[in-house]
Amino acid sequence: MDNRPVGIFDSGLGGLTAMKALRELLPGENIIYFGDTGRLPYGEKSREQLRRMAVQDLDLIAACGVKAIIVACGTLSSNAAEILDAYPIPSFGVLKAGVAGMQKIPGTGVLGVIATEASIRSGAFERALRQACPGREIRAVACPDFVPLIESGRGSADPLVREAVARYCESLQGADAVLLGCTHYGIIADAIADFLGEKTALVSAATCGAAVAAQYLIVNGLTGEGGGERFLASGDPAAFTRAASTFLGRTAAHAAEAVPVMEI
Ligand code: DGL
Repeated sequence: MDNRPVGIFDSGLGGLTAMKALRELLPGENIIYFGDTGRLPYGEKSREQLRRMAVQDLDLIAACGVKAIIVACGTLSSNAAEILDAYPIPSFGVLKAGVAGMQKIPGTGVLGVIATEASIRSGAFERALRQACPGREIRAVACPDFVPLIESGRGSADPLVREAVARYCESLQGADAVLLGCTHYGIIADAIADFLGEKTALVSAATCGAAVAAQYLIVNGLTGEGGGERFLASGDPAAFTRAASTFLGRTAAHAAEAVPVMEI
């Protein structure tokens, strides 16, 4: 038993998909969530910037006394993998976990991955999928419009979201499965699923990342009790609290606390 919180962070709302998944798996966990909305979107940043930001974000959440960290961001997981792996507090990215989820997809057909511009540009998702799923065609597509649409409060039913999904996902039609390599995309999963049809499975890197972290806590006897939560936001905390409550489908237990925007 270890009642220290689990830290989860992302550039904004996306990582809440991982938080929701962890809550479902381990309802007793105390969770501290950092949304770096003051520096969003991460998907447009350079690799060098992302690697500096990964260290800053890890240090910020580590300073809250966490026992483990979920880096609920595909962009950092793909551009700073060794930084997460070497961090002194156990840190779980969403890339490896998502790719392991794709490995379980039966069949021989196409496997797709959609993620931010910086994630796809890194080539890390594609490389890991090719290695994990040899012999299968891998298609990787960057979807730069998704994060701004989601952060502006648009969901699956919104016509602009539907139009963007059709534009980006056309080449993925008929795939056996598509990996949601950006944690934000779970918020519009219904629109993506409607467009691709039921023959294409969607694998959420966020959900897979939460499952791997939960497993680590269980196996090491580190699960907690209390089910508390705390939110930190580097952008407008009131806007974050409102959006988080909408996304979580319940009022966030506490309003988000403001943290300063870190210089990159
Ligand atoms: N949700 C993040 C990811 O998984 C970052 C999105 C962004 O800020 O561009 O990649």
